[in-house]
Amino acid sequence: MPTVEITRRAEFCAAHRLHNPEFSDEENHKLYGPCNNPNGHGHNYEIEVTVRGEVPVPTGMVMNLNDLCWILEEKILPQFDHKHLNHDVPSLKGIIPTAENIAVVLWNQIEPEIERFEGCRLHKIRLSESRNNFVEYEGSSS
Ligand code: NI
Repeated sequence: MPTVEITRRAEFCAAHRLHNPEFSDEENHKLYGPCNNPNGHGHNYEIEVTVRGEVPVPTGMVMNLNDLCWILEEKILPQFDHKHLNHDVPSLKGIIPTAENIAVVLWNQIEPEIERFEGCRLHKIRLSESRNNFVEYEGSSS
């Protein structure tokens, strides 16, 4: 059977503040720039979730994209959408909410959902924080 990657895109809006209390205020400002704004600020995040799997002849699909859509829109993203990532999201507690760290947290939540589907595995997460900045994560073993 051929192996194919399928991708679903979704969006969420959230606020954050990048600040490491171990650094001075001046160091934080220099390191994180506008993302260090004391009261936080917002981003329109875009996530692309890629699942890799074989294409069985009877369905012709790696997995039903409607299922992937449901996982993202109903199970995962409501925890993050229209939230302050520093204060409102238990899975980010104590974690500096950079795009890198958010991508890893999203991976850890999405991966077990994908593994329920036979022959499918989570291949990549791309998280865009703005039009020109994005991060990609393929899991800790790759
Ligand atoms: Ni920011």
